[in-house]
Amino acid sequence: MARIVGGICTSHIPAIGNAIARGLQNDPYWQPFFQSYPPVREWLERVKPDVAVMVYNDHGLNFFLDKMPTFAIGAAAEYQNADEGWGLPTLPPYPGDPALSWHIIEQLVNEEFDITSCQEMRVDHAFTVPIALLWPGTQRRVRTVPVAVNTVQHPLPTPNRCFRLGQALGRAIGSYPEDLRVVVLGTGGLSHQLDGERAGFINKDFDLECLEKIVNDPEALTKYTIHDLVRLAGTQGVELIMWLVMRGALSTRVRQVHRHYHIPVSNTAAGLLLLENAA
Ligand code: DHB
Ligand code: FE
Repeated sequence: MARIVGGICTSHIPAIGNAIARGLQNDPYWQPFFQSYPPVREWLERVKPDVAVMVYNDHGLNFFLDKMPTFAIGAAAEYQNADEGWGLPTLPPYPGDPALSWHIIEQLVNEEFDITSCQEMRVDHAFTVPIALLWPGTQRRVRTVPVAVNTVQHPLPTPNRCFRLGQALGRAIGSYPEDLRVVVLGTGGLSHQLDGERAGFINKDFDLECLEKIVNDPEALTKYTIHDLVRLAGTQGVELIMWLVMRGALSTRVRQVHRHYHIPVSNTAAGLLLLENAA
C-alpha cells in the first residue's frame, strides 16, 4: 500500500526562484532563509519519497478569473512550467503519476469533494519554487500530483473544508494498492499582503501561533473564516489553507522534525515545517 512518509509546508515566493537561478544562496539577505532547508533535504534524501503530492495555489497561470475551480487535481504524465512574468527561467517539465492521480480523484469524488480533473495543467511558482528548494538541480526525479486550491477568485474554500479535504486526501493515498512512499507538500504563506492599503502587512504573532497550531491543534485553525485569515494574515496570507490541506492528510498526532520562520523574503514571512506521522 502507499504510505505517507511525511508532510512539508514551505513558502513559495518567486524571488526565491530568482535567488536560486542567480546562485545567491549565501548572499547576506538570503543566507538566513536558505540555511533552514538542508535538514529537510537531508530528510528527503534519507526517506526517498517516490511521489510528492503538491498542494498549492495557482496564481493565474493555469486558471484565470474566467474559469476558477475550487479544487483541481492534475492527472497528466507531465506538467509544464511557463513564464508568469516574474523573470524566472522556465523549468523543464515535471513527471506526473496519472494512475495515482486518478485514484485520488476517484476517492475524493466518492467522498463528495467535487474535484476538477486536469489532464493538462501548467504549474506556476507555487509548485516549482518549493521543488527547486527541496530537490535542487537534477535530483528532482520525484513524481508529482498537483492539487490546486483556489485563492485567487472569491469565494475561497473555508479553512475547515481544506482540512477535511486533506483528511480525505490522506485516506485516498493510504488506500492506493501500490507500495509507494508519498510526501505531501503544502506551499504558500505565511502572512503577506501584496496589494491595497495594507501592502507589506506581516503578522508575526499570528504566524507563530499558526506554526504551533498546525503541529498540535490544527482543528483550532479550522474555526477561522477566510475573512478572519485575510484580516489576520493578509490577502495572500490566506495561502495558509494549503498548510491545512497538508496537515489534514497526516495522522492526528505528528512529530515535528524541523521548523523555521524568517521575516522577510520579498513581502512575505517565510515559514518551513517538516512533520512525520507519530508512530
Ligand atoms: C510573493 C509572495 C507570494 O506568495 C506570491 O505568490 C508572489 C509574490 C512576494 O512576497 O513577493
Ligand atoms: Fe503566493
